[in-house]
Amino acid sequence: LLAGVAAFTLAATAASAQTVGFSQIGSESGWRAAETTLTKQQAEERGIDLKFSDAQQKQENQIAAIRAFVAQGVDAILLAPVVATGWDSALEEAKDYDIPVILLDRQIDASDDLYMTAVGADSVHEGEVAGGWLVDTVDGKDCNVVELQGTTGSSVAIERKEGFEKAIADHPNVTIIRSQTGDFTRSGGKEVMESFIQAENGGENICALFSHNDDMAVGAIQAIKEAGLKPGEDILTVSIDGVPDYFQAMANGEANATVELTPNMAGPAFDVLEAYWADGTMPEKFIQTDSKIYTQADDPTAEYERRKGLGY
Ligand code: AHR
Repeated sequence: LLAGVAAFTLAATAASAQTVGFSQIGSESGWRAAETTLTKQQAEERGIDLKFSDAQQKQENQIAAIRAFVAQGVDAILLAPVVATGWDSALEEAKDYDIPVILLDRQIDASDDLYMTAVGADSVHEGEVAGGWLVDTVDGKDCNVVELQGTTGSSVAIERKEGFEKAIADHPNVTIIRSQTGDFTRSGGKEVMESFIQAENGGENICALFSHNDDMAVGAIQAIKEAGLKPGEDILTVSIDGVPDYFQAMANGEANATVELTPNMAGPAFDVLEAYWADGTMPEKFIQTDSKIYTQADDPTAEYERRKGLGY
């Protein structure tokens, strides 16, 4: 028994001594800010020493952070990659020092031996769920869609677009008439939506908005209102994330649907690392989070309240 207690104490001590570097993209959205909050909370609860680095949307800052983490000899690295390409040499350096890397919420175009696992949603599926909702909602009626894309070159922007296009492919009544990046920000969403409205007869030609995230949708909703139209009625909105402000818009009848993406990517990532540190267990290459769609029928006020306590 004493030996067991000693081994347990040793394991607990070892676990509490681990250092993890986290290269975060920035704080472009409410979802991103919540992911940061939850990662810090999760690390603290588990006794992990988290070294946090905010890249302010720049890949070069993320690459510099990875190199700094390697130089510091961290026990693992969490990386939320702003874009999909250009990671090979930095990740090879981490690999040379046997530092496991876990991708959070976005994927990269690189050999999968450069990272231990990736935690996130199937982003093609997210786009398909959003597109499927719109197809069902318009029920055969003609619908011109404007699309607000996420950050150019990010895996999620590429895949959400692909999934949405897949969902509408067999429904010629639903057509994307304009598509542009709003860089996942509220101000970007508002600005681009204003230009869509101006180009499309004051918004009269637009039936629906597909936004790659809720923050851009919230900005776009403001633009729709300022143009004298009713978001949620004159222009339907479907989006991705499930942030509280979007639920509030749904509760007000100004938004229609969102596909939830949990901001708690760190929980599964730290579970994987703890298992690995305990006995060398290797995870699957992809840990998929749920993509449930919420509409005005799902008590958005209650969902808004619930989410306020979830890191947002
Ligand atoms: O990678 C996840 C996306 O990044 C979220 O949908 C968006 O809000 C964020 O900025």
